[in-house]
Amino acid sequence: MIKTSVKSANVLKYKTDCLVLFWPEKKPAGILKQIDGLLNGALGAAYKSKRFEGKLNQTFQQSARGVMGANSILVVGLGKEKEIQAEQIRQAAGTAAKTAEKTRHGKVAFSLDEKEAGKPGKSKGGKTGSPVAEALAEGALLGLYHFDLYKSEDKDNPPSRIKEITLLAPSPSKVTAWQRGAAQARKLAEAVMATRDLMHHPSNTATPTYLANAARRIARKHKITCKILNRSDMEKLKMGSLLGVAQGSHEPPKFIVLEYKGGKKGDAPVAIVGKGITFDTGGISLKPGAGMDEMKFDMSGGAVTLGTLQAVASLKLKVNVVGIVPATENMPGGSAIKPGDILTASNGKTIEVLNTDAEGRLILADALVYAQRYKPKAIIDLATLTGAVIVALGHLAAAVVGTDDKLIEKLIASGTETGERLWQLPLYEEFEKAMKSDIADLKNIATGGIGAGTVTGAAFLKPFTGDYPWAHLDIAGTAWTSNEKPYVPKGGSGYGVRLLIDYLKNL
Ligand code: BES
Ligand code: ZN
Ligand code: ZN
Repeated sequence: MIKTSVKSANVLKYKTDCLVLFWPEKKPAGILKQIDGLLNGALGAAYKSKRFEGKLNQTFQQSARGVMGANSILVVGLGKEKEIQAEQIRQAAGTAAKTAEKTRHGKVAFSLDEKEAGKPGKSKGGKTGSPVAEALAEGALLGLYHFDLYKSEDKDNPPSRIKEITLLAPSPSKVTAWQRGAAQARKLAEAVMATRDLMHHPSNTATPTYLANAARRIARKHKITCKILNRSDMEKLKMGSLLGVAQGSHEPPKFIVLEYKGGKKGDAPVAIVGKGITFDTGGISLKPGAGMDEMKFDMSGGAVTLGTLQAVASLKLKVNVVGIVPATENMPGGSAIKPGDILTASNGKTIEVLNTDAEGRLILADALVYAQRYKPKAIIDLATLTGAVIVALGHLAAAVVGTDDKLIEKLIASGTETGERLWQLPLYEEFEKAMKSDIADLKNIATGGIGAGTVTGAAFLKPFTGDYPWAHLDIAGTAWTSNEKPYVPKGGSGYGVRLLIDYLKNL
């Protein structure tokens, strides 16, 4: 993990390889004006010629050798002054860190005067941490994420990697607050990166057993209890829906339960449930070959659940949280379920399986029933459930569907705050009716052209949530990305961890 430190220093004299400065959309002012003077007007000229205007994530590099302490400066745009919030700072920091790394800097220092930083919001790191430092560290650490575990070392041409980040606090009196903000960011970033790691492992590594062991590891390191149910335990609980999906695979299914008790004894917990399909072939309703490799990411909801529990515990949040991950592969084979088969879930409801590729909802059904035993104050599930959500929202927001508007409102607000956007879709009664089967209680896909694939998926889940406030997040479009964003490199994003932590902090 990259080293982070906070120092108070004179920005003009601070000795470093690469000094990052932030610039809102206006001509150089404040410290930038001073630096412009030292650089013979290079910044002002760049602004005049529109080579650099301070647009969000725009960059400008310039040698400063001999005139400043730093060898070079990297200026990053923050966008319109009025619009600067934590998200803009995270993005600019991520862009800066990646740009510095691409230009083969090993160390980088960030300087951002809080007066320039707009309204980055309350620090999620308690009342005493600097929200600016938190956003800077979060954006930089997340932007610099790499997953190289399966690559052989190239001794002649090693990849460029930043090893150390220094945040320059604007004054000595701010150092403590900046350290607190940076420490918060680090804990959260570690959890997001652990989530991304779980996602990136191929399915021949990240099996249900691997996820269960990862959960055990998290529990051992933090104050969390961990329970892993095996196939026979699931049989005793009559989890016929989950076991139906698992029966086509040689990999044993695991049902992972993590309990974190940071709140008052007896306080109802928040239950987080994550889809843990470690590979989705579609089963007998086989998926086409092109792009099927991406279905190793079908356990993203599960990974986010584990990552969120890690973050909740390492940040010592004063809440009770339960994480539940039903984990299995979805495989075709001689013992796999077939279209038309009927399964019985642990609440006694019978399900006609019309498409074995709609397996996420089948495993979630038993997990949601299990969540009810905690009498939770809310159930939040995350799942790469439908391709349809990508049609609706692309890769820019996840869909939220549920039974409790207050819960949904809070989640949407956390999504906006963290840049992990959510958009609500309506759970009309007609969609619930569309999930009724002719010969069983429910069918796992809607037939007859009602459309709305994302909402019908959610409508199937509702009968398994009891009367508990429930929100379903369809993260199929946001869990991984093929075009990188400022602080989300290509691949697994870890979308959901930061959103849920913000929600839990605000409880
Ligand atoms: N894991 C997939 C959903 C998915 C698709 C995630 C594309 C990410 C990208 C899920 O299990 C699935 O196959 N859903 C089907 C449901 C359909 C059969 C009703 C889908 O979306 O096509
Ligand atoms: Zn599927
Ligand atoms: Zn799936």
